[in-house]
Amino acid sequence: MLLVSNWKAYIESPKEAKELLAVAKKIARAGVHTIVIAPPSAYLGFFTKEQEVSLSLAAQDISETQSGAHTGEITAGLLSGMDVFYTILGHSERRAKGEIDSMVAAKTQQALLHKIIPIVCIGEKVRDENGAYLQGLRAQISAIYEAAPQKDRSKIIFAYEPIWAIGKSSCESITPADLREMILYIRKVIGEMITPTVALKVKILYGGSVSKINAKELTESSGVQGLLIGHASIDPKEMIAISKVVE
Ligand code: 13P
Repeated sequence: MLLVSNWKAYIESPKEAKELLAVAKKIARAGVHTIVIAPPSAYLGFFTKEQEVSLSLAAQDISETQSGAHTGEITAGLLSGMDVFYTILGHSERRAKGEIDSMVAAKTQQALLHKIIPIVCIGEKVRDENGAYLQGLRAQISAIYEAAPQKDRSKIIFAYEPIWAIGKSSCESITPADLREMILYIRKVIGEMITPTVALKVKILYGGSVSKINAKELTESSGVQGLLIGHASIDPKEMIAISKVVE
């Protein structure tokens, strides 16, 4: 499984960041999972050349722009030079600050151009009885593929993160049965936009109140290839437990 730790802005001390890195290395050394950590960008420089222990670095976001006169931007080119292998894009917490599909698509293009694998977050705010949320998900996926070169499309990872399930307790997370349905739907949509055979290779992750309590049931038959973990990822005991229960 691909286990991606999104530390968000929870970590504000280098000491804490280093301690969490040590935990991630320990989990990675067990060799069971691919471990990816997404620290706040200011800490990315601490963690270069970690790949030897199947630990990779992700940015939590990147700029839409290329290098140039863009004060404050963190470009894909800069990150690729720092051994950043993945980037989270279109997280709902960024979308809530005004990021729209076309911006996520532009960031995806930048990431691919610099050989950084995009982990694009998609997910509905609420569910309606008429299924409009399914059309919303389709639109989010379509915007990404329209902007991505055909040859790179299968490299894009999607993280299904229903917004209503983020930052809650495990009992308020999605049920395994609902997750399975959603992953089937997302893969079907991907299949229509690339090809059904290539769609089988596309990695889909789940994120939203994952913990040691629900990680096993959310992964065992839902069809996901990994998890995007938020608040549990900054708790060493939780992360070690999640890595043990997930197969
Ligand atoms: P929580 O695990 O805190 O719900 O966060 C999920 C998430 O947003 C990961 O990107």
